[in-house]
Amino acid sequence: MFKKMNLWNKSKTNLTINERVSRILEQPIPKHVAIIMDGNGRWAKRRALPRVAGHHEGMKTVKKITTLANRLNIETLTLYAFSTENWKRPKHEVDYLMGLPEEFLGSFLPELIAENVKVSMIGDNSRLPAKTKKAVEKAIEQTANNTGLNLNFALNYGGRSEIVEAVKKISTDVKNGEISVDHIDHECISHYLMTHALPDPDLLIRTSGELRISNFMLWQIAYTELWFTDVLWPDFSDKHLIDAVEAFQKRTRRYGGLNDKESKK
Ligand code: IPE
Ligand code: IPE
Ligand code: MG
Repeated sequence: MFKKMNLWNKSKTNLTINERVSRILEQPIPKHVAIIMDGNGRWAKRRALPRVAGHHEGMKTVKKITTLANRLNIETLTLYAFSTENWKRPKHEVDYLMGLPEEFLGSFLPELIAENVKVSMIGDNSRLPAKTKKAVEKAIEQTANNTGLNLNFALNYGGRSEIVEAVKKISTDVKNGEISVDHIDHECISHYLMTHALPDPDLLIRTSGELRISNFMLWQIAYTELWFTDVLWPDFSDKHLIDAVEAFQKRTRRYGGLNDKESKK
């Protein structure tokens, strides 16, 4: 107890990463953390490097943050890796981005398996190049029975497309008499989304200073806590994830109602 008090009384600047990890593990951890990994291009531009060098560096951040998220007992980490709008980028950049899952999983999959991480994906995989799809499918297959962190990649993912697809499926099921119109409620819609197996994100992080959602999990973030940082994704480190989780732990979630203390007044 004395040690706990000590850690919380100390300013975070005087604590090591390990001490900060032990400190946040004493309080509720967000079950589902989602990250809009932004700023790779600007990171490269600042160093007079091609944009793709930023994407390569960003991949290293994915490895570090996955390892820490697993250590923090976060249940699901959803990483926005490629949006349905990112196809608008120059072909060579799109090609590079589509090569990253193969490169990332090629070198990191054994470690993910050893760390008990389960890989999953949301997004439309029908438009992904065969090698990208294959790399992701292999990782999903080989980690299917793992019980640690669920590392969920949003790849060719867009919140609006996801809703359009759900509406189409619901309409078809109504037409075929599988469900009735009265059956359509919040829970039903969530069930038809690509995230049906996941809880809504508790914490959404966006790097690079942009204060927008860019078509990410539009339905699911209704009551998610948002955390923005100017740090560019390749510079995002353990310290920043810990900052975000600490900020989350200080928030009061109300979901439109009152919290326990407020209702007693
Ligand atoms: C995020 O970095 C990665 C993807 C969107 C694929 P960006 O490539 O968007 O980097 P900036 O925002 O241009 O700096
Ligand atoms: C959001 O970043 C998509 C991903 C991080 C994959 P963008 O860089 O594509 O978003 P905008 O264009 O700045 O809104
Ligand atoms: Mg960007």
